[in-house]
Amino acid sequence: MKVVVHDFWWIPTRIENHFMQQGINSPKYEYFLGNLREISILSLKASSESMPLSHDIFPRALSFIHLWKKIYGKMFLIWFGPTPRLTITDPSIIKEIFFSKSQYFEKYDPPLQVKRIEGDGLLNLKGDKWAHHRRIMQPFFRMENLKLITPIMAKTMEEALVKLSKNMNKIGSLEIEIEVSVWFQSLLEDIITKITFGRNYEEGLVISKLQAHQTAHATEAYQNAFIPGYRFLPTSASRVSRRISKEIRNYLLKLIDRRRRSDDRSYDEAPNDRQPADLLEVMMNAAGKSHRRNDPTAFTDEDVVEECKTIFFAGTHTTSAMLTWTAVLLAMHNNWQDEARDEIFRVCGARDAPPTKDDLANLKLVQYVTITS
Ligand code: HEM
Repeated sequence: MKVVVHDFWWIPTRIENHFMQQGINSPKYEYFLGNLREISILSLKASSESMPLSHDIFPRALSFIHLWKKIYGKMFLIWFGPTPRLTITDPSIIKEIFFSKSQYFEKYDPPLQVKRIEGDGLLNLKGDKWAHHRRIMQPFFRMENLKLITPIMAKTMEEALVKLSKNMNKIGSLEIEIEVSVWFQSLLEDIITKITFGRNYEEGLVISKLQAHQTAHATEAYQNAFIPGYRFLPTSASRVSRRISKEIRNYLLKLIDRRRRSDDRSYDEAPNDRQPADLLEVMMNAAGKSHRRNDPTAFTDEDVVEECKTIFFAGTHTTSAMLTWTAVLLAMHNNWQDEARDEIFRVCGARDAPPTKDDLANLKLVQYVTITS
């Protein structure tokens, strides 16, 4: 009882007072839950209303921050359970933090349910372990490797477009209605599966589907993960999440083992100048060199599993959301759509082949459109 009062009432009250003395306020801390109940109500309300075609997505995407900024100003605390987060919305302060004060802002340690979805990889690692993993994965992100990966991405996109036009032929129409966000999400899952698992694409697809299934529970996990003790409740969502997590792990460990034993191409064979290294291969090169569990510089098969999950999470949703929003904006502004299309035909049209990494430098307008959206 003493611990509960101390952790869930005494500490939050002291923190609240500490910040209040500096003029930083917060929505009222609710015992145990913090502001989670209000966050959930405001988010549900915002997402249930239809949105006008507008660039102003802030009130919908982060409705609680939008409301509390109006009430408490540009800087305020939000309580995720008994954990406070300082919310900063002033661009000049954000810039100062990134450029000169970043050492004072540690990554937060996400709850287990969140780690299950995001993977305990680069996104969530800190300090020496993060630096070590970063070094290991660097060869995959080298420019020479990215150049070899670009045709794989282009081909996957081409195949998806051919499938779309076949569907149009089937219904005998020049128009077809698709849910763009789902289409891009599936395209990205396909691309990330190919670049992560290479020749084990088919097995990778199983993992990708499991991961997508896992992410479907993300909203619930993110909302509840901060409620102390929630993870111990046997809810059906947490049971499913645990089960999928186990399945992904076991499937990946078996795949790693099979690849290590397979003789079609040794896992530590260097990638040649036509074939890119897939991410699994890059990581297995490092994992093969150290299996000592207590060595801080070890990179175990468990680390490979977590990094695969992280790449899926970090690579698919971000990029598909960005492409979906770009498509919406181009549909709203047909003049930009026409100019971007003209530029692509000018740069790549004569060759009648998909864009390469080298073409990107000449696709200035397309780059501008994607970066600004
Ligand atoms: C529009 C697309 C993307 C956006 C907006 C985006 C955004 C971000 C941001 C903001 C971070 C920093 C997160 C933090 O430190 O808390 C990050 C990290 C990361 N992203 Fe992306 N990302 C995108 C695409 C991708 C893709 C395609 C991949 C992989 C194929 C990827 C993999 C990663 C990884 C591994 C990290 C962790 C890096 C590290 O800590 O060393 N991202 N991304």
